[in-house]
Amino acid sequence: MLKYDEEVLPTKWYNVVPDLPEPLPPPLSRAQDGSSIELLNRIIPREILRQEFSFNRYENIPEEVRDLYRLVGRPTPLIRANRLEEFLGYRGKIFLKYEGATVTGSHKINTAIPQAYYASRESVTGVATETGAGQWGTATTLAAALTGLHSKVFMVRVSYDQKPLRKTVMALYGGEVVASPSVETKFGRKMLQKDPRSTGSLGIAISEAVEYALDHDMKYMVGSVMNSVLSHQSIIGQETMKQLEITGEEPEAMIGCVGGGSNFGGFVFPFISNGKIEMIASTASEVPKFSRGKYDYDAMDTAGILPYVKMYSLGSDFIPPPIYSGGLRYHGAAPSLSILVKSGRISSQEVEEKEVLAALEIFARSTGIVAAPESGHAIASAIRYAKDHRHDPKTVVLNVSGHGNFDLSIYGGRAR
Ligand SMILES: Cc1ncc(COP(=O)(O)O)c(C=O)c1O
Repeated sequence: MLKYDEEVLPTKWYNVVPDLPEPLPPPLSRAQDGSSIELLNRIIPREILRQEFSFNRYENIPEEVRDLYRLVGRPTPLIRANRLEEFLGYRGKIFLKYEGATVTGSHKINTAIPQAYYASRESVTGVATETGAGQWGTATTLAAALTGLHSKVFMVRVSYDQKPLRKTVMALYGGEVVASPSVETKFGRKMLQKDPRSTGSLGIAISEAVEYALDHDMKYMVGSVMNSVLSHQSIIGQETMKQLEITGEEPEAMIGCVGGGSNFGGFVFPFISNGKIEMIASTASEVPKFSRGKYDYDAMDTAGILPYVKMYSLGSDFIPPPIYSGGLRYHGAAPSLSILVKSGRISSQEVEEKEVLAALEIFARSTGIVAAPESGHAIASAIRYAKDHRHDPKTVVLNVSGHGNFDLSIYGGRAR
């Protein structure tokens, strides 16, 4: 391995819990008997559960996992977007951390690998999960293939129809993909009975995947929200820190998009103790979880099978409009991130799809990167930031969580 890569690739995951301004409220079981907490023991690998409730600031990354990180393209590049700066007439600096450079095309592989790795060390028949945009499903199927596991993916119907090529990639990696709601689970059948034309939601797909994992002796792979997932994603922020250090740069603002909060948390949390850095979480206006959501205990999935967690949420029965950014349609935001937004340490911003499309176009023409629509929210917020700071230039670091090579239908005739 190149010396630079070896220096940049982290050896530990960072856990923000000990550095939060208030204790993280524990997950609660909806039933008095604690059954949904007990359920976690059945569907989540033991080591992942230990990490989930850990107060250690750092956890060692096993060397096998680091090897797989290298295999899928880590460390990912940090790039100075000087053409974008020029285009915007911005006198500050814009850097982008490009998670789309991993072989699956997004940050999701960063947690899929350790989850599949720890699952493969227990006696399981495979792993099951849900996917919105398809990025998480793709990461899961590859991580399963690399660790010798079978994988089953419930893909939100609206994305299943909008992004057929994602299914092809998942199948190529050996995954089995069905549209959710599906007839393969009790909960899916119930949802279809209520609305046979349901476009689905991440909450419904999670419920299906959990039920399926339980019935088939599989482990359930968690794409976002949980603390262990955000810790795994901390490799994004740690790499960024090292790369900035090597180039002698000090970040003043960090911007990322938020679905469940994993790429954003992973990107900014390692910098949380640096009070001088402004942190901006960009969400979809169509899913206004921070401005209209309630900070309270809510279910992570629509059926309420998983434990309740305290977070900003629009309600687990929230069915979002079918925006292209499937990955931002989730009803809540990770508990740790929610605390930091509530405390004011992290600010949030909403962006409409129209502004996102315009930002993606500018970004493509000035960097060459066709970014994922989810990442387009972060890009749009960065462009706003540059405009707002025209006379007060800062060093901005932007996380581009994935590429949009499978999302080209979003442009349907727009690109001239
Ligand atoms: C490319 C991309 N970015 C962002 C997200 C949002 O998820 P999270 O907030 O957990 O990073 C997703 C989710 O599927 C995604 O695919």
